[in-house]
Amino acid sequence: MDLKGKTAIITGASSGIGAETARQLHRKGVRLVLTGQREANLRAVAEQCGSDSGGSDSGGSDSGAADSAGAVIVVADITDPGTPARLLEEALTATGRCDIVFNNAGILAAGPIEDIDIDAVCRMMRVNVEAAVRMAYVAVKHFKRTGGGYLISTSSVLGTKVGLNSGAYSATKFAIEALSESLRMELAGTDIRVSCVEPGLVMTDIHRDWEVHPRELRGMTKVLEPEDVARCVVFMLEQPAHVAMPRLMITPAEDAI
Ligand SMILES: NC(=O)c1ccc[n+]([C@@H]2O[C@H](COP(=O)([O-])OP(=O)(O)OC[C@H]3O[C@@H](n4cnc5c(N)ncnc54)[C@H](OP(=O)(O)O)[C@@H]3O)[C@@H](O)[C@H]2O)c1
Repeated sequence: MDLKGKTAIITGASSGIGAETARQLHRKGVRLVLTGQREANLRAVAEQCGSDSGGSDSGGSDSGAADSAGAVIVVADITDPGTPARLLEEALTATGRCDIVFNNAGILAAGPIEDIDIDAVCRMMRVNVEAAVRMAYVAVKHFKRTGGGYLISTSSVLGTKVGLNSGAYSATKFAIEALSESLRMELAGTDIRVSCVEPGLVMTDIHRDWEVHPRELRGMTKVLEPEDVARCVVFMLEQPAHVAMPRLMITPAEDAI
């Protein structure tokens, strides 16, 4: 896909992988609808997207949270059932199109059975599964109407294998893998692509509340940066029309997982 002039919705754009993917897509000339709950973070990302010579337009959102520089920002809880449709509407209103949906918002609740916070686990199910499924269906229905588009979801290495104390998180990512694979089969032969990116350990805010960072827990020295994952997302999006890339796994080189 030639990315210049395309429009992308990015969920989970207020930090980490989503924020960096926004910056990289902006440099490719992609117009952006960025969503998350932390308004200050979204504004900062949107300003970075407006600060170089990419192709983004300014836009507004009915949350009154439009940035003045480059991208439309929508401050919203992704688990609100109306959010996915609202994001699509914002993209169409601001740019007249929606070509890419990066279904990336996610949280992580892990721990041994004795300690795990079951409410946090169920919240994770709603963010990582329910909201991602709703976003996927809104995106694919739109792509079917327009004849093409690309849905990429952020799965994980733990969407293909399980780790100790993270079974519920793995379950959420296995669910996204299953949904994506089934959609890919359903849409084979069309101009709609559906893929998962599967990162290993990445330095982002997702572990910010952990007493000991998993990098130290696992004795690793160099893990992934958001830039590494964003580069994969851009690579997948830039494949020619005859190529499907259902999944792309990226891990720290020293990770024996
Ligand atoms: N970091 C890793 O090691 C790793 C590895 C494999 C896969 N992943 C996956 O990568 C994706 C991005 O995570 P990250 O590592 O970049 O962490 P991050 O920096 O914490 O980003 C998570 C994003 O999800 C958003 N989000 C969470 N709950 C939300 C809600 N209820 N409503 C709206 N937005 C919500 C956050 O926005 P707000 O806080 O502003 O709401 C934030 O923008 C997730 O799906 C995660 O599971 C991460």
